[in-house]
Amino acid sequence: MSTILVTGGAGFIGSHTCLVLLEAGHDLVVIDNLCNSSEESLRRVEGLSDKSFVFEKIDLLDQPALEQVFVTHSIDAVIHFAGLKAVGESVEDPLWYWRNNVAGTLNLVDAMNRADVRDLVFSSSSTVYGMPEELPVTEAHPLGPVSPYGKTKLAVEDLLRDVAASKPGWRVALLRYFNPVGAHPSGEIGEDPTGIPNNLMPFVMQVAVGRRERVAVFGSDYDTPDGTGIRDYIHVMDLAEGHLAAVERLERFEGCEAVNLGTGQGYSVLDVVRAASGAAGREIPYELVPRRPGDVAAVWSDPGLAKAKLGWQALRGLDEMCRDSWHFQSRNPHGFAKT
Ligand SMILES: NC(=O)c1ccc[n+]([C@@H]2O[C@H](COP(=O)([O-])OP(=O)(O)OC[C@H]3O[C@@H](n4cnc5c(N)ncnc54)[C@H](O)[C@@H]3O)[C@@H](O)[C@H]2O)c1
Repeated sequence: MSTILVTGGAGFIGSHTCLVLLEAGHDLVVIDNLCNSSEESLRRVEGLSDKSFVFEKIDLLDQPALEQVFVTHSIDAVIHFAGLKAVGESVEDPLWYWRNNVAGTLNLVDAMNRADVRDLVFSSSSTVYGMPEELPVTEAHPLGPVSPYGKTKLAVEDLLRDVAASKPGWRVALLRYFNPVGAHPSGEIGEDPTGIPNNLMPFVMQVAVGRRERVAVFGSDYDTPDGTGIRDYIHVMDLAEGHLAAVERLERFEGCEAVNLGTGQGYSVLDVVRAASGAAGREIPYELVPRRPGDVAAVWSDPGLAKAKLGWQALRGLDEMCRDSWHFQSRNPHGFAKT
């Protein structure tokens, strides 16, 4: 069992992964600046696992504080979630995104290098592929992110490829997630976005719980069976288990390698609204509105490499994703802060 530093561990995917890591017997040091999360998620992880761990409120841009983490604790591996992730926000303020996501990672990798810690799992994203040229999307698909957010993810991938090639010993897994949704089945932890949700599932759930009036379905004239966009949604617990598999199998990564984490199965926006209505036990109102610029008709992954390399595959389907999202939302109608 090892000691794993988790950056961004208070966030949506980080908190679920912390729980899975604790349950597998690992020790954790969690750092987060809480810019998009609440410490309450970590208190709940401790409650669910009945285990405690170190938490330090640290910003990745604070290089001395970051270096100190590696001096104070004997870290074996790092899982790096900390980053900003809203595409629209990244278009409005690209400097903030480049500084936080790229300079923040530079500081982290620098601190790792000094401390001789060379095992890293990085949260990348399917946005690095840009417009899909063929489906399903394999790791060999051309890269060409469109938004500043996606470009920061690709820049970090490039940085890590260069660092891993510079000297032996680095073992870096670039995990390219498709569309994470769902929550822990207890309903204790889940996705709690600040402001208007950027992603479909939290928006649908906020409509279901009465916080918003209706779901705007952007585009109903795509070349898909029901005309709405198709995405590869993946349950956050599957994703968390994918991180456990990756960090425990880093010896299979020589240098730096990318792996998709998806289900390989696409669902349309209307499929999600229907499944969410079933989970919530009420019709979720929606309206069809024009397409958003930059959106594509359909994207789904080829998850074959993850299965071969990590011995991992997603197990949970759309109904379970909606059931668990609804469970979290209905138990925490206003998120963590106000429950
Ligand atoms: N959720 C998605 O749809 C999705 C898809 C693909 C990739 N990702 C990536 O996965 C990672 C985790 O995503 P999430 O959905 O859990 O997001 P999240 O916002 O819930 O979690 C990110 C965490 O990082 C923290 N953070 C941000 N900048 C920081 C900094 N400078 N120093 C310290 N902490 C900082 C935030 O406070 C937050 O707790 C992100 O890197 C994101 O880009 C997410």
